[in-house]
Amino acid sequence: MRPLADPPKVLALDAASADAAIRWAERIGSEVLTAPFALADAKTKALDAFLCEATGKSEGRVFFCHADGLSLHFFGDKPMRLRADFYGPEVAYRRHKGGGRGQMIARAVGLKGGRQPSVLDATAGLGADAFVLASLGCAVRLIERSPVLFCLVESAIERARGEADAELNAILNRMQPEWADAVEVLRSLKDEARPDVVYLDPMFPPRSKSALVKKEMRLVHQLVGDDPDSGDLLEAALPVALDRVVVKRPRIAPDLGGRAPDFRLEGKSNRFDVYLAQAENRAGV
Ligand SMILES: C[S@@+](CC[C@H](N)C(=O)[O-])C[C@H]1O[C@@H](n2cnc3c(N)ncnc32)[C@H](O)[C@@H]1O
Repeated sequence: MRPLADPPKVLALDAASADAAIRWAERIGSEVLTAPFALADAKTKALDAFLCEATGKSEGRVFFCHADGLSLHFFGDKPMRLRADFYGPEVAYRRHKGGGRGQMIARAVGLKGGRQPSVLDATAGLGADAFVLASLGCAVRLIERSPVLFCLVESAIERARGEADAELNAILNRMQPEWADAVEVLRSLKDEARPDVVYLDPMFPPRSKSALVKKEMRLVHQLVGDDPDSGDLLEAALPVALDRVVVKRPRIAPDLGGRAPDFRLEGKSNRFDVYLAQAENRAGV
């Protein structure tokens, strides 16, 4: 992957995170910011004024590095934060009470009986769907082309490992994040690395102000924009998946690449379109 043209700078919010901030900055070819005041006491306004001055921009993004790992801070008119999370209360609730293999995503990837298909998540984003699938026993390869989102996911995995929760660690061990373009990965996949399922959840222009689009996804959209090439993902995935390709779409969206699926599972706001692998592709399933 090419280095980022304008990578977010990194600010350690406490002394204990200073080394980690340097490590993340090196990782994305960026630099560390040093605030001229005690950050623990800084009000958001003072912090944002400092960020504007230090970056020379009236709005922008900076990585915050702190005890909970990395988060992406959007400064400017409406400051907001984006992070991936694999251990907090909402995630834990879904893990324990989210409906297990009865969930629509589980049925879409074909998790039934004792089957635990391997999954290549070609649009990993913040890793939320991948985490659900890994919680249900799937080994998941997470491919994300945005280095910023990739770092958020890596950092969240690192942070969640610190919980010393054996079950959680087993889930995290099934997640393998990679910073890459999934179209290239899929096109060059060796036979032995073919997954049972390729999972796609490309960006779809968010319906403005819809309460159904989570704030998080709006921030991700701000960061990566639309995925106008998402039809290429489907074309690259179809010959590779041993069992099926699953596409998550807003309920009202047109079929990805104009290609009708073999069947759909529909929910309140989203649906899953399932494309079954052709017989000649299914050898070994
Ligand atoms: C809607 S988000 C995915 C959200 C994810 N399912 C989750 O649970 O957090 C779509 C993501 O796919 C990524 N993406 C789109 N095309 C890609 C490609 N060709 N290779 C890798 N990542 C891609 C985008 O950068 C974006 O982060």
